[in-house]
Amino acid sequence: MGFAMGEGMSRQGSHLVIVVGAGPAGMSVANIMSKAGHEVVILNRDIKFGGLAEYGIFPSKLKLRGGLRKQYWEIIERPNVHYFGNVTVGQSKALSVEDLRALGASAVIFATGAQGTKTIGVEGDSAMGVYHAKDVVYHFNRLPSFGDRPFEMGKHVAVIGVGDVMVDIAHWLTRYKQVERVTAIARRGPLERKYNPKEIRAVCHNIDQEALREECARIRPRLEAVGQDADKILKEMTEDFTKCEATGSSTKMGFRFLASPRRVLTDAHNRVRALEVEETKLEPKGQDTAAVGLKQYYEFPCDSVVFAVGDRVDDTLGLPYKNGIFVTNPSSSGNDPDDALFQTFDEASGKVIEGIFLTGWARKASEGLVGIAKRDGEWCAEVVTRYLDTRASAERGAVEGVLRRLRDLLKERHVQTVGVEGLRSLELAEKACTATQGSIGEFKFATNQDMLQHTLQKT
Ligand SMILES: Cc1cc2nc3c(=O)[nH]c(=O)nc-3n(C[C@H](O)[C@H](O)[C@H](O)COP(=O)(O)OP(=O)(O)OC[C@H]3O[C@@H](n4cnc5c(N)ncnc54)[C@H](O)[C@@H]3O)c2cc1C
Ligand SMILES: NC(=O)c1ccc[n+]([C@@H]2O[C@H](COP(=O)([O-])OP(=O)(O)OC[C@H]3O[C@@H](n4cnc5c(N)ncnc54)[C@H](OP(=O)(O)O)[C@@H]3O)[C@@H](O)[C@H]2O)c1
Repeated sequence: MGFAMGEGMSRQGSHLVIVVGAGPAGMSVANIMSKAGHEVVILNRDIKFGGLAEYGIFPSKLKLRGGLRKQYWEIIERPNVHYFGNVTVGQSKALSVEDLRALGASAVIFATGAQGTKTIGVEGDSAMGVYHAKDVVYHFNRLPSFGDRPFEMGKHVAVIGVGDVMVDIAHWLTRYKQVERVTAIARRGPLERKYNPKEIRAVCHNIDQEALREECARIRPRLEAVGQDADKILKEMTEDFTKCEATGSSTKMGFRFLASPRRVLTDAHNRVRALEVEETKLEPKGQDTAAVGLKQYYEFPCDSVVFAVGDRVDDTLGLPYKNGIFVTNPSSSGNDPDDALFQTFDEASGKVIEGIFLTGWARKASEGLVGIAKRDGEWCAEVVTRYLDTRASAERGAVEGVLRRLRDLLKERHVQTVGVEGLRSLELAEKACTATQGSIGEFKFATNQDMLQHTLQKT
């Protein structure tokens, strides 16, 4: 598959590149490419830029979110950056991958994050009261179409996984929903917990330490069987429970280790009543461990289940996809070794899809913090720059041509885009409102329609 080179291109000089997705990775690519003098078009599904920095990072982290927002504003306000919010790329969406390829930009970089839902093959996972963490996170961050949807959690919530996303969900359940009990379900042991010690401060006030000691005593023989010291692990784990933030709730937070979810059990109304888990043991796997099922099952009563096990990419986007990820070039021959990691690859033809690149969580789903996504964008920009150096650059008039075709296409498809001016009006309108009772952090309009009413709709 060759990439359609726009008319009127010459060697040397600047190019027009399209970045799809305005999260930390996409904004990082846009930053580097625009600083290098290229024209950058950003197409973003959400009206607002930021991705998970806007709709993922816990909404009370105002300093972190505000700092990122400031950096992103500076980028999108550059004269050679053209922001189009409210534009989803994908099959049967505003624009398809083929539409983008036909526009005649020099390169298209997909920084769309991990928008697909990862399921772990647990029977009953479509019951009422089963949720995927991303949806819950989008809900309490008030992403339109998630913010005003009810998320009934009941009294006792089982959260599958022990990463930072589990902690964010537990934070919301503890401080804001004030449920009775939250239990993190881990298929491995306490040593293999993934959350950052600093993040646990948001909920450690509510951790039932006596129950945690009992849980460690219960699994002690299985930890010792692989040479783990249960007392040392418990000591290290509880040492992180310092500087605990007051939550003002009596929610009890606990852990269930060596427990692999098998089935969601429901009542006559298809509502969650329990989680069936299988006892596991640890087996060494290189430097790490793996959980191995013991074929002993028990019911863990709960009213809702949240899967916080990471995400996968959206396979409906229209890029070659396999096993939860977009396919990248398996061979680095002939390139700088880094290049292949960012190039999309068509296995049917055995060829790199020229001019189409991946970065951030679209390249490596659910991996790392904002800083890692930013670094990935910078790395991708280096790869794209090497590619552009081999291509003819845009002649005067060609950039306007691409932008005109893009605007015409979006108009033809009745897509109401939001540009910088629209975002400015929206920000002013939101700042003028006080946060709704019960919501966290700053005020946000609930729907795209509400947001669009407060934009000037100019791009
Ligand atoms: C719940 C949660 C909390 C987190 N908290 C922190 C934290 O406190 N600190 C920290 O450092 N890191 C945190 N992270 C990690 C951080 O958010 C990620 O590392 C980072 O956001 C990944 O960036 P990205 O640009 O690859 O993807 P994303 O941030 O997901 O951005 C993807 C962008 O692509 C757009 N998009 C998606 N699909 C399409 C499409 N089809 N067409 C057009 N546009 C599309 C979206 O609108 C979005 O703007 C958190 C992650 C999660 C899940
Ligand atoms: N505040 C913050 O800084 C913040 C907040 C949220 C997210 N993030 C970042 O975002 C990234 C993603 O976080 P995450 O929490 O989604 O992912 P994560 O850290 O990889 O944790 C995923 C958890 O799910 C478990 N899991 C995966 N597959 C499973 C299965 N089949 N059955 C049972 N359990 C399973 C994992 O257990 P195993 O270990 O056994 O696989 C692990 O405990 C991380 O880099 C994180 O640091 C940061």
